[in-house]
Amino acid sequence: MSYRFASRIGKVKASFLDELFRVSNDPSIISFAGGLPSSALIDTGGIARATREVMEEDAGTALQYTTTDGYLPLREYIAARYRTRLGIPAEAAEIQIVNGSQQCLDLFAKIFLDPGDHVGMERPGYLGAIEAFSLYEPVIDTVPLEDDGPDLLAFERMITTAQPKFFYGIPNSQNPSGRTYSQDTRRAIAEILREHDTVFYEDDAFGELFFDAKPRLPVRRYLPGQAVISGSFSKTVAPGMRIGWMYAPQEILAKFNIVKQASDLHSNFLCQKILHRYLTTTDPDRRIQEIVKVYERKCRQMCDLFNDLLPELTHTTPEGGMFLIATLPPGLSARAVFDEGVRNKVAVLPGMPFYVDDGGTDTIRLNFSSASEEQITEGMHRLSNVIHGMLHA
Ligand SMILES: Cc1ncc(COP(=O)(O)O)c(C=O)c1O
Repeated sequence: MSYRFASRIGKVKASFLDELFRVSNDPSIISFAGGLPSSALIDTGGIARATREVMEEDAGTALQYTTTDGYLPLREYIAARYRTRLGIPAEAAEIQIVNGSQQCLDLFAKIFLDPGDHVGMERPGYLGAIEAFSLYEPVIDTVPLEDDGPDLLAFERMITTAQPKFFYGIPNSQNPSGRTYSQDTRRAIAEILREHDTVFYEDDAFGELFFDAKPRLPVRRYLPGQAVISGSFSKTVAPGMRIGWMYAPQEILAKFNIVKQASDLHSNFLCQKILHRYLTTTDPDRRIQEIVKVYERKCRQMCDLFNDLLPELTHTTPEGGMFLIATLPPGLSARAVFDEGVRNKVAVLPGMPFYVDDGGTDTIRLNFSSASEEQITEGMHRLSNVIHGMLHA
């Protein structure tokens, strides 16, 4: 039997995930290669209590099928948070609950992309988006991501010539680079897009994790009918619940709802109820402040160790989020640093999966949220030994 798979499955770049899984399963390796929030900061006690309460008071409903758009009180909670945090007049009718914001990437591409359509992205861009979009066989056009956001000249040129159906970006503490768009860049992007039929897709996985706790205004604020935002409880509550959302104009959401229903009918209703109970009976902002304080300390620690131990590398200095990116000195390849690192019990993620061309061979991504402070110190010393060993070989 030879399986006659669809041709699109061959269009997805082989992912690094298998190798990553191998290193994250070896306890002797200190891994900065993955992307996990800190397990120590998940409020297991609070979530256990919320689970018990839902099961005692409401199990019959929580264990039944429900509507595709999601649990209305949870959608109202999310909309209210946009209004109070960002001053955006969001309504529950504009919010669709999904299985983690990763599902937005798949469903959004499904409703917008025909094979050969253009889609814009940052360079480097989020690996999970490249994988999700690639299954719909688009042409991906990239724009260099600078310290304050996409290079605006390149952005305008690309939008004008390729006319992508949408541009996907992560304005807040981007994965993989940790970079944040300036407010001027957000405004300029909106100005440019206003002249075109290109939607701005803002992936806001990290918007609540700014170290200065100040929210940044989304592009959607300047471009209401032409921008969507995906959000997630993965980084602020617990990724295993797999609850995120899409906030979009109703015309887009109506199509989104159709493909969501075809895909899985609805997201896990029990988890939606538990999450809502948890959010409304605890102080989620205090928990977020705690998470942010720890991530800021770890980020500063990693940056300081880079400066002290590895001055040959340049690195980004994030304002929030969970990742930074470093550029290797000439002559060193990210793949070789990964291999030699694993031999010496420290793992970093080579930059290549974040590029749709042949880029990234001289960059590495490091996650600072998941390792402990002791592990960060030890891991950065190991990385310094690895890189200096290779430079002097
Ligand atoms: C930029 C970005 N978007 C989306 C996701 C998916 O997150 P989730 O599906 O847990 O909301 C991640 C995961 O790390 C991410 O980094």
